[in-house]
Amino acid sequence: MSPAIGGTLARVEGGAKVTGAARYTGEIPLPGLAHAVLVGARVASGRITEIDTVAAERADGVVGVLTHENLPPVPGTPRLLPSLVGLAAPGLSWFPMRDDSVHYAGQPVAVVVADTIERAEHAATLVRVQYAQSPASTVLDQVRDQAYVPERIFGGMLPGQFVRGNVEDGLKKASVRVDRTYYFAANHQNPIETSTTTALWDDADRVTVYDSTQGPTATQMTVSALLGVAPGKIKVISEFVGGSFGSKAMIWPHVTLCVLAARQLRRPVRLALNREQMFHSCGHREEQEQQLSLGATPDGKLTALRHHKISITSHFDDWAETSLQSPGIVYATPNYEGIYRLARGNTITPTFMRGPGEATGMFALECAMDELAAELNLDPLELRLRNIAEKDPTSGHPWSSSGLRECLQRGAELFDWRDREREPARREGNTLVGWGMAASAYPHVAPPNPQRARARLYADGSAVVEAGVSEFGTGVTTAMTQVAADALGLPVARVRFVGGSSDLPNITAAVGSAGTGAASAAVHCAATELRDQLIRQAVADERSPLHRAKPDAVTVSEGRMCLRDRPNTGETYAELLSRNFLPDVEALGTWTPPPPDPGYGMHTFGAQFAEVAVDADLGVVRVRRMVGVFAPGRVLNRRTAHSQLMGGMLWGLSQALLEATHMDPRLGRWANASFNDYLVPVNADVPDVFVETIEVPDTVVNPLGVKGVGEIGIVGSGAAIANAVYHATGRRVRDLPITLEALL
Ligand code: MOS
Repeated sequence: MSPAIGGTLARVEGGAKVTGAARYTGEIPLPGLAHAVLVGARVASGRITEIDTVAAERADGVVGVLTHENLPPVPGTPRLLPSLVGLAAPGLSWFPMRDDSVHYAGQPVAVVVADTIERAEHAATLVRVQYAQSPASTVLDQVRDQAYVPERIFGGMLPGQFVRGNVEDGLKKASVRVDRTYYFAANHQNPIETSTTTALWDDADRVTVYDSTQGPTATQMTVSALLGVAPGKIKVISEFVGGSFGSKAMIWPHVTLCVLAARQLRRPVRLALNREQMFHSCGHREEQEQQLSLGATPDGKLTALRHHKISITSHFDDWAETSLQSPGIVYATPNYEGIYRLARGNTITPTFMRGPGEATGMFALECAMDELAAELNLDPLELRLRNIAEKDPTSGHPWSSSGLRECLQRGAELFDWRDREREPARREGNTLVGWGMAASAYPHVAPPNPQRARARLYADGSAVVEAGVSEFGTGVTTAMTQVAADALGLPVARVRFVGGSSDLPNITAAVGSAGTGAASAAVHCAATELRDQLIRQAVADERSPLHRAKPDAVTVSEGRMCLRDRPNTGETYAELLSRNFLPDVEALGTWTPPPPDPGYGMHTFGAQFAEVAVDADLGVVRVRRMVGVFAPGRVLNRRTAHSQLMGGMLWGLSQALLEATHMDPRLGRWANASFNDYLVPVNADVPDVFVETIEVPDTVVNPLGVKGVGEIGIVGSGAAIANAVYHATGRRVRDLPITLEALL
């Protein structure tokens, strides 16, 4: 169909990024800009008994200090909703500095504003806070016995438990059974750009907010709801965002505090979190434990799956990342029980992080499947193939598209899985070599409301297409350029895509791997509408060579409309517009996503394979090669999509071997809140990574057939590595990350 879609167009914003011309929120120059620095609570629970700001206020360059004693009103009620809903998305249903209470370490207790960042940072150190401390609980072991099953989790969007069939019966019928517990340390998203907001009020009480966010509208709606300012008075600009991984999906309190400080002090204010503050201010992947019971027949058919999770949440919200969703539908088991249990602790509300839920849930399931395969003395790949759910086990509906079997088979072929030795611990000198695999799955999350975009064609035959997305590294700008070019019949060089503002037609925040899918559908609708409008205009125009042609008989390529079967008859868009004295023609496109139950199960699937080499004496694990095969629907841009999938696979490596945020329960603070101490992979850790996509366009999900590639890459890659470590060493490590101590 289309010359641009599916190609490998290089990032259209790449030049701006490598030359430094791209401006991130913290780089927007504004005259009179003041800098805000947050002061975070040093304790995890209690009350502020005294807050002394005199020294800070007197320090050079300070223009104001806000505390709970002088904070202007924040009249709104924060309500936790996932940002993809398109409404306000405060990260927690509580707002700091409205009273003297402290519920987690790092919670904002003061905002110090000065004329330079250095002076603001210095003055922030001069704020003296006295606390009446109360006992704090910050780790699972302290609160495990207070756990409860929440009625709903995830901002009220999902129930706290799911049941089908009878899991006890299913386990009793099993001839082989595996019961295992997997533990996951807390993790943080750690994008390179720390969260930054800049706010500028004008005399008409309107505000422009530059924000590093996954959704400009989510920021707009959140500030509006909390401050009681009409959304029409709030414009949010978010042109370039330096990574996010879920940390900028919710609109955390510091954003609104910055907007408030700017209004109070009557000058533009910028608030950039520092690296340490990022660990306390933007949510995290919660510390959690998952228990799995699998029962199977002697030939490896699952009879039951029980999946329980216990995790620690905040005092405000029943948040659990949705670890049970994908594991509950990958395999056809008649008997299933999934239960979330939560315990309250003194942390900020946990949030989205890279494959939120699936990354941990599928890790647990895919390790347990590997353990079951060992019990059954069955090849791990064969065990998966025997259990694939051919339809959605939850609803009984067919899949809108699957491709799981094809991914598993193709991955095995690319990896030469058939050469795998059955017995663990193949030695090469002092190195133990192992192979592991896992399935991946990620739900398709449709936005609950219409998505819009606008397309405009100018008389010179160039086009501008707009939608309110933010580019946080996913390649959405590039993919939208391709989608618009194809729908309009223009070369990509003639199309400019503009995003990054809440003033543009609304696209919900890019969360749950749904961003490019939603935006591309809207852009496709807008550009198609514009093309059809131009064709209708041409066939109605007496002076057009296409006059009286049937619109259906007209096609467009390279900006020229012509009859499909008589290509010599036609004219360019430019000719049509110029002749009619039209400077431009514009169309709005609206895409209505599928309803919550469209009669199909909607999920994305893939398969992951890994080879590791473990030093037999030191326990050091090196990943040598990884193969990932995914079926993400249609791929809009092979280069950016494969890059995204590869990045995901490396985050899985990181999850398996490196990442952990350690809570110090005595202090109630994250103990390794820095890039010195929080490990992520560097290039030297990165093995040979091979990505392939199997394209099955899925028009149930989206008119272009796009399901999305944002997070599926991370799901399963950690389990493939853990399974490879087992195959190499015969040691099963069920605590993440797998450190070398665990293998000694
Ligand atoms: Mo993404 S971690 O679902 O914001």
